[in-house]
Amino acid sequence: MADRRSRPTGEADPAGTATRRAALRLVDAVLRRGDPLDVAMHAAAHGLTGADRAFAVAIASETLRWMVDLDGLINGATRQILPDDVKSRAVLRIALAQLLVLKSPGHAVVSTALPLVAGGPRRLVHAILSRAQKEEWQLPDRATLPLPTAERWAEEWNLAMVEAAEGSWSAPPPIDLSFAAEPGAEEWPDAVTLAPRHRRLPRGQAVEAMPGFSEGSWWVQDLAAGLPARLLGSGEGRTVLDLCAAPGGKTMQLAAAGWNVVAVDSSAKRLDRLRANIDRTGLSVDIVQGDIRSWAPDGQADAVLLDAPCSATGIFRRHPDVLHRIEPRHIAEMATLQTELLARAARWVKPAGTLVYATCSLERAEGEDQVSAFLASHAGWAIDPARADELPSGIAPDGEGLIRTLPNMLDDAGGLDGFFVARLRAPSD
Ligand SMILES: C[S@@+](CC[C@H](N)C(=O)[O-])C[C@H]1O[C@@H](n2cnc3c(N)ncnc32)[C@H](O)[C@@H]1O
Repeated sequence: MADRRSRPTGEADPAGTATRRAALRLVDAVLRRGDPLDVAMHAAAHGLTGADRAFAVAIASETLRWMVDLDGLINGATRQILPDDVKSRAVLRIALAQLLVLKSPGHAVVSTALPLVAGGPRRLVHAILSRAQKEEWQLPDRATLPLPTAERWAEEWNLAMVEAAEGSWSAPPPIDLSFAAEPGAEEWPDAVTLAPRHRRLPRGQAVEAMPGFSEGSWWVQDLAAGLPARLLGSGEGRTVLDLCAAPGGKTMQLAAAGWNVVAVDSSAKRLDRLRANIDRTGLSVDIVQGDIRSWAPDGQADAVLLDAPCSATGIFRRHPDVLHRIEPRHIAEMATLQTELLARAARWVKPAGTLVYATCSLERAEGEDQVSAFLASHAGWAIDPARADELPSGIAPDGEGLIRTLPNMLDDAGGLDGFFVARLRAPSD
């Protein structure tokens, strides 16, 4: 959308300035307020439509993904280090992300950056952007992780994991599709198949324009996100409680696999998305809005899947804001909530039934540690080990039969999100 807002001089801002202003607001909302990018988008990109809105989000996402390296370039070009929170640094970050990542034309980047520092150090910003073009600045091959995350993951995992994480978030990930039924061999000839009812496509395609979208034969779901429901196998008419279900990726898998699904989530807005997904795919599911800290089912179920709310650090490739927002205190808060939800979910499993616990987190506190604490406080419960033949090749269960996906897995095939999945068996009486 062209921005013809008047500046004090009476000149109009160059076309495209509103989009960059929105990108600036988005990055600010993430860094200063800790808002998720998709939440901040509604306010920050208000008034922008279609392609302009998508471009504002792309600028903000790539700024956050490459921020450590962009800051390195900015710091190397100024005599005095600019404070972290000044406007000129913020404008330089988004401008350099356009130049070096999105490869936007230099004149458009500069002309839309300068109005954003009106009344500030325009000459400095102009000089740095000119130099970046003249000297043909480049970013490294791998986007550096924010230091607190790199340190935490190096301690929890190892340095090789940090390097793999940097490799895997340096570009947006491929598109994974989950199918309600196995597609024909002749369909999707350019896709890679990593598991039954899965196809992987190169990124950058408009999902809604892909064949079969309106017919509802598939939905977008990372390969790792599909693992928890795979561990429940086919339902054969049995009942599963799908807790924390929205927007419904796992719900659709379970319904397509023949389970009677009761899908529960506390968020009305996210349940609207679940409902739209269920309508599009023509599957049948009971949908309940409820907070599972107070809601309870009428009776026990054959199986329960708890896809617990978490820090979401495992989906940092597609949500690069996560690693700038999440701090150890958030992880600790989430872990406390998960302990409570897991204990409640366990009560709703029939004797000898199955409970699958999952989080899209790369933090042990939200995965392995939850299971150890649960088993220590729930007599008779045991891990029902995941078997290699239930998983895509390249993903192996650990020694106890738990699944932990890490950024170095399936590297050559485009990687996968960081997930933790445990299948637990209830005592038989
Ligand atoms: C990881 S997401 C679920 C993703 C979903 N299972 C899927 O596959 O599409 C976590 C969900 O938990 C829900 N949630 C958070 N706290 C909750 C609670 N106390 N009771 C019920 N749902 C909750 C959130 O609204 C969110 O939709």
